[in-house]
Amino acid sequence: MKFATRAIPLVLSASTALAAGTLEFSLGSERRSHFPDIAERDVKGTSESALSTNYANSVGMRYLVNLTVGTPPQPQTVLIDTGSSDTIFVAADASFCSGKSKSHCPGGTYNTSASSTFKMLSPDGIDAHYGVNATATSGEGGIDADLVTDVIQVGNIIVGGAHFGVAHQMDGKFLGNGDYVGLLGLANTLQEAVKPGQPKYPTFVESLVGAGAIASRVFSLYLNEVSSYGSILFGGVDTEKYTGDLMTLNFRPLVLTTGESLVSYSFMRMEEVSMTHEDGTQTALIVSSGPKLNVIPDSGTSTWNVPTDVYNTVVNMTGVTVSGSNAALPCSQIPNKTTFTFTFSGNGENKAKLEVPLSSFFIPASRADGKGVVRMGGQDMCLLMVAPSNPSSGVLLMGDPVLRAGYWVFDMDNGQISIAQARLSSTSSNIVAVEAGPHGIMNATRQPSGLAANQTEQVAKTATASVSFSLSTAASAVGQTSGPQSTVLSGGAVGSMLDVTAMMSLASALLLSVTFGAFFVVNIVC
Ligand SMILES: *[C@@H]1O[C@H](CO)[C@@H](O)[C@H](O)[C@H]1NC(C)=O
Ligand SMILES: *[C@@H]1O[C@H](CO)[C@@H](O)[C@H](O)[C@H]1NC(C)=O
Ligand SMILES: *[C@@H]1O[C@H](CO)[C@@H](O)[C@H](O)[C@H]1NC(C)=O
Ligand SMILES: *[C@@H]1O[C@H](CO)[C@@H](O)[C@H](O)[C@H]1NC(C)=O
Ligand SMILES: *[C@@H]1O[C@H](CO)[C@@H](O)[C@H](O)[C@H]1NC(C)=O
Ligand SMILES: *[C@@H]1O[C@H](CO)[C@@H](O)[C@H](O)[C@H]1NC(C)=O
Ligand SMILES: *[C@@H]1O[C@H](CO)[C@@H](O)[C@H](O)[C@H]1NC(C)=O
Repeated sequence: MKFATRAIPLVLSASTALAAGTLEFSLGSERRSHFPDIAERDVKGTSESALSTNYANSVGMRYLVNLTVGTPPQPQTVLIDTGSSDTIFVAADASFCSGKSKSHCPGGTYNTSASSTFKMLSPDGIDAHYGVNATATSGEGGIDADLVTDVIQVGNIIVGGAHFGVAHQMDGKFLGNGDYVGLLGLANTLQEAVKPGQPKYPTFVESLVGAGAIASRVFSLYLNEVSSYGSILFGGVDTEKYTGDLMTLNFRPLVLTTGESLVSYSFMRMEEVSMTHEDGTQTALIVSSGPKLNVIPDSGTSTWNVPTDVYNTVVNMTGVTVSGSNAALPCSQIPNKTTFTFTFSGNGENKAKLEVPLSSFFIPASRADGKGVVRMGGQDMCLLMVAPSNPSSGVLLMGDPVLRAGYWVFDMDNGQISIAQARLSSTSSNIVAVEAGPHGIMNATRQPSGLAANQTEQVAKTATASVSFSLSTAASAVGQTSGPQSTVLSGGAVGSMLDVTAMMSLASALLLSVTFGAFFVVNIVC
C-alpha cells in the first residue's frame, strides 16, 4: 500500500491516536464499478439494513445490525456506533468468548483462516478505548485488534477492500448482559484508534463510497420504537420515515492546538429542553441563556447524559425511585403524556426541534442474566435512561433515548446533520439516493432551500490509502428483516433491584473511542 502524508498538523498531545497524524488517501480513483443493479429492495446508490434492539437475551437497548464478513460469508451481528470509527469483529479464537455453558459472543465471530479473501494489514494495529472514563492506560472498554482487510456484505452489496479490526482482547462488556459483540463504527476517520505511526484507514462508510456503492459519506439513522425494527440507510434518505421537514445543521468545528478549526466530530449544541407535563404545564430543563451544552448524537450510548442539576430535576419531575445508580418506576406508572421538546443548533442560524415522549427515556429493567424483567411493587420495573454527567469535559453524549424520536441524516462530506421527527412504526418506504455535493440531501428530498445550511468551516476529509475497492451484488441479502421485533423482555422471572445494578453501570459505559479525549486540549467553537 502506498500512503501519502497529510498536511494538517494535529498537535493533540492527549491523544496517541490523533497525534499520530493522518494520511490522505484518494478514494475515488480506483472505483471498479458504478452503481450496479442492486436487487429490488435497495434503491440504486443506497443500501439499507435493519436495526434490532434485542439479541440473545441481552438487555434490549443496544442497536445491532447484521452483516457478513469474508468468503464464504461469516454472519456477524454488531453494534452500531456513531460515536466511534473503527469497525471491529470478534476473532474466532478469542478467549473471552468461551464460557462454561455458552459462548459470550452471541453476535458471531470471524475466523480469518476460513476466509479466502482475508489479508492481514497490521497485527495489533488497533488500540481502541470506549467509555467516558477510558484512557489508553485505564484498560476500561479497551479493545486490541489486528487491522485487516476482507470483503463485507451489508444488505445485498458486497464491498471488497474493507478495512477493519479483528479483536483478540476486549475489556468492555458490550452487551448489557456482559457478553461481547463487534462494532460498526460510523464516525469520521480521524477518530480511528489506530496505533501511533499507523495510517488512518477508510471507515466502512468510506469503503462504500470508494467502491461506488454510495455517492458520498451520508447515512440515515432510524432507530424506530423499541418494538419494531429500525434501519440504517447508507447513501440515502427515506422520506417516509419522518414527518415534517428535515432541518440541516452544520456540525460545530473543533479548534485544534494549531489554531486551525476543523469539523471532525458530530458536535451540535443543545440549546433548549423543556418538559411538558400531562396537565400542560412546562418546566424548562435547559435554557439557551444557560451554560453552552455541546452534544454528540451517539447511537452507542444507551442514556441521555445531562448535567447533574438537570438530572435532579428530571428525577424529581418523574417521581422515580433512586437506588444507587438506578432510577426506576413501575412501567405502568410512566406518565404517558409527558413530553420533552429539544431545540438543537449547529454552527449557523438553523435550529432543529424534536419532541421526545418521556416514555422514550424508560426501558424495562432486564435482569442481569437477561431472563425476564425485574419487579417493583409487584409490577414490571422500568429504568430511567437519563444519566448525570459532568459537562466540564465540554461535551455530553446524547444516546438512544433521544435518537429514537428522530430521523438523523449524518453527512460527513459536508460536516452536517439533518434532523426530523421520526414517523415511528412506519410501514411505507420512499428511499431517495443522495448525490455528492453541498446540498445533496435537500435536493434529494426536494425540500425548501431555507432548511439547508452552508458549511463554511473546513470539514475533515476522507483520509485513506490507495485502496482497491470492489463492489458486487450478493445473491441474497443479509439483515433486512422489517416489521415488529420479538420482544424478549416481559414479566416472568422475578429479579431484585440488586440484579440490575450491574446493568445500569453498563448502560452508562458509553461507547466512544478514547481519541475523543483529544478534544479536552482544544476548544469547540462557541
Ligand atoms: C478456523 O477455520 C479453520 C479453517 O477452516 C479451522 O481449521 C479452524 O478450526 C477454525 N477455527 C476456529 C476457532 O473456529
Ligand atoms: C420536587 O421538588 C419539589 C421542590 O423541592 C418538592 O416540593 C416536590 O415534592 C418534589 N417532587 C418529587 C416527586 O420529588
Ligand atoms: C401508559 O400506557 C400504557 C400502555 O398503553 C399503560 O399500560 C399504562 O398504564 C399507561 N400509564 C399511565 C400512567 O396511564
Ligand atoms: C442541487 O440543486 C442545485 C439547484 O438546482 C444544483 O445547482 C446542484 O447541483 C444540485 N446538487 C447538489 C448535490 O447540490
Ligand atoms: C447558502 O449559500 C447560497 C449560495 O451562496 C445562498 O443562496 C443560500 O441562501 C445560503 N443558504 C443558507 C441557509 O444560508
Ligand atoms: C440477525 O441475525 C440473527 C442470527 O442469524 C437472526 O436471528 C436475526 O433475525 C437477524 N436479524 C435481522 C434483522 O436480520
Ligand atoms: C467516571 O469517573 C467518575 C469519577 O471517578 C465516576 O464518578 C463515574 O462513575 C465514572 N463513570 C463511569 C461510567 O464509570
